[in-house]
Amino acid sequence: MLDSAAVAAGTGGDARQPERWGSRFGFVLATAGSAVGLGNIWRFPSAAAENGGGAFVALFLLVILVVGVPGLMAEVGLGRRAGRNALDAFLAVRPGTPWVVAGALALLASFLVLSYYAVIAGWVLAYVFKALSGALRGLEVPALRETYADFVRHPWQPVAWQAGFLALTAMVVVGGVRRGIERWSRILMPGLVVLLAILAARVLLLDGAWEGLVWLFRPHWEDVSGRAVLRAMGQVFFSFGLGMGVMITYGSYLDRGEDIHRSAVYVAAADVGVALLAGAVVIPALFAFGLPIEGGAGLLFATLPAVLGQTPFGDVLTVAFFVMVTIAALTSAISLLEALVAFMDQRLAIPRIVASLAATAAVFLAGLPSALAQGPWGIVIDGRDFLTVVDTLVSDVLLPLAGLLTALFVGWVWGVAPALAELRQGAGWFPERLWSLSVRLVIPLTVGTILVAGLLGVR
Ligand code: PHE
Repeated sequence: MLDSAAVAAGTGGDARQPERWGSRFGFVLATAGSAVGLGNIWRFPSAAAENGGGAFVALFLLVILVVGVPGLMAEVGLGRRAGRNALDAFLAVRPGTPWVVAGALALLASFLVLSYYAVIAGWVLAYVFKALSGALRGLEVPALRETYADFVRHPWQPVAWQAGFLALTAMVVVGGVRRGIERWSRILMPGLVVLLAILAARVLLLDGAWEGLVWLFRPHWEDVSGRAVLRAMGQVFFSFGLGMGVMITYGSYLDRGEDIHRSAVYVAAADVGVALLAGAVVIPALFAFGLPIEGGAGLLFATLPAVLGQTPFGDVLTVAFFVMVTIAALTSAISLLEALVAFMDQRLAIPRIVASLAATAAVFLAGLPSALAQGPWGIVIDGRDFLTVVDTLVSDVLLPLAGLLTALFVGWVWGVAPALAELRQGAGWFPERLWSLSVRLVIPLTVGTILVAGLLGVR
């Protein structure tokens, strides 16, 4: 990738000036939209409940402070400095640098994550309509599990919904930074918060919900193991989209006058807020009905609909729940697609509309084995289905590797002094030493640990 195209990037690439965000609020909403996703809803609550409740929450907050916020600042700062997509950002700051590999890995990671993320999001979208049609009404957990199994095993339905979800994503990204991503984030993110608040209010009024809330927030230190720590680190990494080029890309549209530190704190607050609120819906709901605490598909498609279905206004609540999860997934998918489109647009000089359609088509094809994973054509590798294999590979190896290289690049190659000079623009006071320490040592050590654990297969 460093041949004539690199030289051309100095001319052809620069000719395309990227768009800018309309306001900092728009940037914060879009970035929070990227962070808040399926991970907050189907991973965080069960991870917290199983790994020490309040102790896990405390750990999660700590990792956010020492890794999440500084990492986010580093990527957004690099993006703003360069004014370029995830790959060219490295070259813009250090021409000819071999560290551009980090950018390439990040784009590969975005591509792979979006390929299976869109499959799961497609299931969620399908469930909006299942709930609307009344097909889930009155079903108990075993029947719901069967409905889910039949659906994901269907030879073509998951593919159709995957395509539908990707079409929604592409429609937003085609509109560009301001008229597409920013405008939709302004509509979708407040909608998500309202729906989640309604759900939380309803669930917390159920008998027995209180015990669930106490379980979620009371620290159980005896449940905190090395694995719990790994899980908290992995959670923050995936949620903040570090090592995927997404934050570099969103940062490249940001004006010098904006305060990156403060924006990163707002994004972190939104991410934590939604994770905790989701926890306050999920765990108390399961407690109230004496259902097992689980995460993932079982939670989304079986236990939670069963609970919601049995409460007054259950139909409406179930629809609200799936719409809420669809929104969370959509704003995340938008950011993943945008990272790819920005690259194609700026580096390959492909017009946005063509780039959006081409990237979406490629992601769709790459996601097909994941969409078909549970069905008759499912490929099984080492006893695991294709979607799980890709997810594991990306979360355990690719993301930590790209994140590690990016942090090392910012901390040691670009250097903390120039990076801080960039971050200071538009910013008030922030703990600069702590930031440097984090980017140079804490993030590399954390991510290095995730990587080694991933390579050793510790989960
Ligand atoms: N943060 C999103 C989630 O938690 C997923 C995501 C990862 C989005 C990387 C963008 C980039 O579901």
